[in-house]
Amino acid sequence: MKTPIIIINFKTYKESTGDNAVKLAKQIEKAVKKTKANVAIAVQAVDIEKVVKSVDLPVLAQHVDPDDFGGHTGKVLIDSVKKAGAIGTLLNHSEFKLSKSVITKTIKHCKDKNFEVVLCVPDSDKAGSYAYYSPDLIAVEPPELIGGGVSVTTKDPSIIKHTVEKVYKVRRIPVLCGAGIHEEVDVSKSLELGAKGVLVASGVVKNKDPYSETLSLIRGLSVLNV
Ligand code: G3P
Repeated sequence: MKTPIIIINFKTYKESTGDNAVKLAKQIEKAVKKTKANVAIAVQAVDIEKVVKSVDLPVLAQHVDPDDFGGHTGKVLIDSVKKAGAIGTLLNHSEFKLSKSVITKTIKHCKDKNFEVVLCVPDSDKAGSYAYYSPDLIAVEPPELIGGGVSVTTKDPSIIKHTVEKVYKVRRIPVLCGAGIHEEVDVSKSLELGAKGVLVASGVVKNKDPYSETLSLIRGLSVLNV
């Protein structure tokens, strides 16, 4: 994925599930087509195929498991979501925490299968320690700010700077930030603080006008003249 980027996580809201996932993706695509912005969406595994067929946006899974074909009831295979059209996945979201061994194994499997990983972490220390495993992007999100109305860029700007510093000490993996992002200034501020984009959910998904909200977030990227 190219940066700077906005990744919109559909989560499991009613407004972003099933047919609504397709409708929402089309609104987002309409906003993206007016610009040259990089915008990806992370949708539920069962919605990937129909969303991929409906819009021209990079689509991510929200989670994958490190299992191969075989007896693994209920697991989400990298091969399956890739076949459905996903180009990568979120991993270790605060709402779907994984152990270190599962995270490192999954990153390795994704790399082997040429499948991108956006690793979510709750703080800068974890970001620094997981940078050694080379996920494609690292997204820092303070869990207590997720789903709220106050952006991480306002409430905890230092976490973004510290995360970038700790990750870059290991290697230059682009860092995103997320939690409470809902307006243009949240995106521009995140870039000023050293992030290469944002991870956002409710600001777009729960918005009455996701098209205008997406456009407004995209405007926040213009600090880098995109
Ligand atoms: O994955 C993005 C997310 O956790 C942030 O959620 O609703 O605060 O934008 P939200």
